[in-house]
Amino acid sequence: MVEPMLAVRDVEAGYNPSLPILHGISLDVFEGEIVTVLGPNGAGKSTLIKAIAGLLSISRGSVTIGGRDITGVETHQLIRERVAYVPQTENVFAKLSVEENLALGALHNPDQFAEQRRRVLDLFPDLERLGHLAAGKLSGGQRQMVAVGRALMADPTLLMLDEPSAGLSPKLAQVVFSQLIRVKQVGVTILMVEQNARAALKISDRGYVLAEGQEKVQGDARSLLDNPEVGELYLGANSRLARS
Ligand SMILES: Nc1ncnc2c1ncn2[C@@H]1O[C@H](COP(=O)(O)OP(=O)(O)OP(=O)(O)O)[C@@H](O)[C@H]1O
Ligand SMILES: [Mg+2]
Repeated sequence: MVEPMLAVRDVEAGYNPSLPILHGISLDVFEGEIVTVLGPNGAGKSTLIKAIAGLLSISRGSVTIGGRDITGVETHQLIRERVAYVPQTENVFAKLSVEENLALGALHNPDQFAEQRRRVLDLFPDLERLGHLAAGKLSGGQRQMVAVGRALMADPTLLMLDEPSAGLSPKLAQVVFSQLIRVKQVGVTILMVEQNARAALKISDRGYVLAEGQEKVQGDARSLLDNPEVGELYLGANSRLARS
């Protein structure tokens, strides 16, 4: 049997120990997959990704990566386990140039800087042209590319993203999603949280739908797109997700 790369087991977590937001969430991500966590506002999606990323304390359950327990391991230590996390907002250093942002992504692996930089620029050639500009001056889509590029500089095997398409036009969201397909193609496994359910599921292998801190539905992306219950109950849509 293939073991999951990331295994989240029965996780309870929140911002206050007496008030858990996640009530026993379990989730698997297998090597080579894109897995998306969906759900309405306040469902606990960001809380889940933050708990995995070591930003919140986990009061019950466990998180393992490659079979190693990383429950409670702090964010800056996670890159040793080759896990990178891109938050939804403030995910670039606005005053620093694109090149400086990329350089910061390789702080813990300076020996690999040149090689990683080449790899990231091959993946996102636009970053080369934008290299000298302050990240804060870029468009939303370009900034997202810098954030993903910076995360990839650390050479992760698992990339976690919180709403990579938030605030972008549908067209730019599409650009970000096609970039994530390329990231997957170079061998990086992806776990993301998204509101943009239809577009995210179209590039995903599997998905989980959360509501009120619990998993409501899970399955392969196609089955979730076709599942009217998912569209109606959890995603604010009133028809099948696959339709438009
Ligand atoms: N910093 C915080 N302190 C206390 N409670 C919080 C904090 N951030 C979020 N919450 C609460 O946790 C619950 C889940 O929020 P979370 O941000 O995980 O939802 P989400 O699914 O990511 O929603 P959205 O789609 O709006 O981003 C909500 O009830 C929210 O009010
Ligand atoms: Mg969120």
